[in-house]
Amino acid sequence: MTLLFSSHQIRELHLKNRIVVSPMTQFSCVDGVPGDWHLVHLGRFSLGGAGLVFVEQAAVQEVGRVTYGCLGLWNSQQVAPLARLAQFIKENGAAVALQLGHAGRKASRDYPWFGYGPLATSDRPGREQEWQAVGPTDAPVGDGWPVPAKLTAADIEHVVEDYAKAAKRADDAGFDALGIHAAHGYLIHSFLSPLANTREDSYGGDMDGRMRLALEVASAVRSQWPVHKPLFYRLSTVDGEPGGWDVADSIVLAKALHKRGVDVIDCSSGGISVPATANMTPRSMMVSQIAYAEQVRPAIQPIGLSTMAVGQITDPHQAETILRKGKADLIAVGREMLFNPNWALHTALAMDVDPSYALWPRQYGSWLERRELLDLDERS
Ligand SMILES: Cc1cc2nc3c(=O)[nH]c(=O)nc-3n(C[C@H](O)[C@H](O)[C@H](O)COP(=O)(O)O)c2cc1C
Repeated sequence: MTLLFSSHQIRELHLKNRIVVSPMTQFSCVDGVPGDWHLVHLGRFSLGGAGLVFVEQAAVQEVGRVTYGCLGLWNSQQVAPLARLAQFIKENGAAVALQLGHAGRKASRDYPWFGYGPLATSDRPGREQEWQAVGPTDAPVGDGWPVPAKLTAADIEHVVEDYAKAAKRADDAGFDALGIHAAHGYLIHSFLSPLANTREDSYGGDMDGRMRLALEVASAVRSQWPVHKPLFYRLSTVDGEPGGWDVADSIVLAKALHKRGVDVIDCSSGGISVPATANMTPRSMMVSQIAYAEQVRPAIQPIGLSTMAVGQITDPHQAETILRKGKADLIAVGREMLFNPNWALHTALAMDVDPSYALWPRQYGSWLERRELLDLDERS
């Protein structure tokens, strides 16, 4: 019996295994709307046996997109195309989640395949018009990055309301679970971190002030998100920079989030600043991300919060060991799923959980089983 292929119940959602496809933006939407690319890209993960498929970060405000290609859920026209994705994923045996987010001062970037730098400084012929990013203060995310507009208390109220409206739309679209993106230097993270939030009003200053937006968003989303459906919260558990947010802060926040109806803490890290020399957010810290989940879990498991580990998980036995050693309850896999969307099914084969291909889509499974039996016959 493996833990990886054991079920996990969160509220009324029953996950068939512990394998979660981590949210991965495809930068391929038009007006915030996903298309056929998304159906095939995400559909493969449901055919590939994952227990839960996370759809990429959807911006709750138009200004909160990272790039023009990012997904959005700031209006009701964006619901139906998402519903199509959710339905396909569910019909093919996986649960489906959506991540809600706001890019904050990291908004208005060029596409990753054009360098991922600020649009404002891009000299790419035909590039789109940059837009005004927003943040806790007017401090840019790094040297050479545009100055964000500092959000007023009234602006922040709108952000919180827009999270709630997006949560309602996500329910209308049929998602089983919802995640809130409070990591990687995006808006909520930039309010949490003392490195980015130097406000002196009630949304800044001490830990309570810096946590206020994160908690208000959790409450607002929970108010619109059905009580039987789980709510995930992705944190940068550490900033990884001197004087920054750290694991102890994450534990304090996680406990407060739990009181507001959050069920899973998704332990990522980093991203609070972008170095002048690199346009891509460095992800070198990911190797240690599992260690952050491991440090967070003992503090939050007794109160009923689940922990999700993510970062450089590529190997079935590595994933199983993370669960066996009690470092996490759920395993999120990102880039390895891009490499092999059948990772979950291949893992089940490798672990002898599914020797007869019973977990495969019925259109494939019996053929693969027969192929194997035939090979055996021919060899004997
Ligand atoms: C193409 C790409 C897009 C991503 N988009 C998101 C996103 O929308 N939301 C998010 O929280 N993380 C995003 N991430 C981070 C992944 O979810 C994951 O945390 C990270 O890749 C580390 O896991 P891995 O080593 O298994 O890839 C993205 C990563 C990649 C490679």
